[in-house]
Amino acid sequence: MMGIHADRIRSVGIFYFSGTGNTEMVADLLKKEFIQQELQVDLIRMEDGLKNGLDMNIGYYDIIGLGSQIIGYGVPKIVHDFIRLLPKVDGKDVFIFRTAGGVAPVNYNASKPMIKWLGKKGYQVYYERIFSISSNWIAKFDDEVTRQLYKATKEKIGLMCGELLRGERRIYITGLGLRLKMGSIRTIASPIFQIIGKDYGVSKTCVRCGLCVKTCPSGNIRMKKGTIKFGFNCNSCMRCLYICPQKSIHFRLFKFFRVPGEYNVKKILEQPGNGAPCIEGRIPPFFHKYVHEKEM
Ligand SMILES: Cc1cc2nc3c(=O)[nH]c(=O)nc-3n(C[C@H](O)[C@H](O)[C@H](O)COP(=O)(O)O)c2cc1C
Ligand code: SF4
Ligand code: SF4
Repeated sequence: MMGIHADRIRSVGIFYFSGTGNTEMVADLLKKEFIQQELQVDLIRMEDGLKNGLDMNIGYYDIIGLGSQIIGYGVPKIVHDFIRLLPKVDGKDVFIFRTAGGVAPVNYNASKPMIKWLGKKGYQVYYERIFSISSNWIAKFDDEVTRQLYKATKEKIGLMCGELLRGERRIYITGLGLRLKMGSIRTIASPIFQIIGKDYGVSKTCVRCGLCVKTCPSGNIRMKKGTIKFGFNCNSCMRCLYICPQKSIHFRLFKFFRVPGEYNVKKILEQPGNGAPCIEGRIPPFFHKYVHEKEM
């Protein structure tokens, strides 16, 4: 780390990938917090950066932040593609923010590949943090849980900005055993998550509106002779699945990935909630620590 001081930081570039909105919310909150500190902030979706061939001056930013959801204990492909496109630099301070269904030690090694890829290009990661607002796969959180996690996330972001600007180091380290175990799982899982689009089927209810084609972040969906086709360039982000107005897209094998009903985190947060206690038995294991302990 190069020794950061708030008075030296004028501009922040935040690049993020979000499939279903959670990471985007965190990125927005970070932007607001930095603006309050009177910094110049650019917020850029990685998919847009990739489309423009990353036509921007990275050197302009005093620090950069990279954010994405945790997919299969690792990194979505588009994030790797984005890092590949970054220019080589002679030392640039970077922070990483991730969102996950669970803030737990099993996820603490998820950003290790990013740190390695960035390091090879001259970017030093000095800070990482995992947030949780809700889970977009397998088990949907209770709405009240989501609202409370969001509230805790907002508070942690205030804390994070202060730590970032003071140049505090924060990198997750777990024991060697867990690191090796999760590293092996990630190595096996990563290629599977890239081809998961091949498991998608489209039912007859499809009205060929083209929304899935237009919104896929990596151009992995095509309409060919009126039929929707998925390629091998998937991020497993589930955006297409939840955005389809007809609910026509489904998994054939990995049916359990989709949460029941719809997934729309913004809609949940727009509702004020009734302050009722979260439903016992549907509270994720990390919940109490996350809500009550600032450090988590
Ligand atoms: C295919 C898939 C794999 C996931 N893998 C993990 C995981 O390994 N650990 C975890 O805690 N959450 C996992 N999640 C949950 C997401 O990381 C989490 O809901 C995230 O906040 C979604 O962010 P987004 O809305 O910005 O896409 C996974 C979600 C999907 C769709
Ligand atoms: S978004 Fe749904 S309805 Fe529209 S083209 Fe895609 S699968 Fe068909
Ligand atoms: S095909 Fe669907 S899940 Fe895969 S990257 Fe595109 S939008 Fe995401």
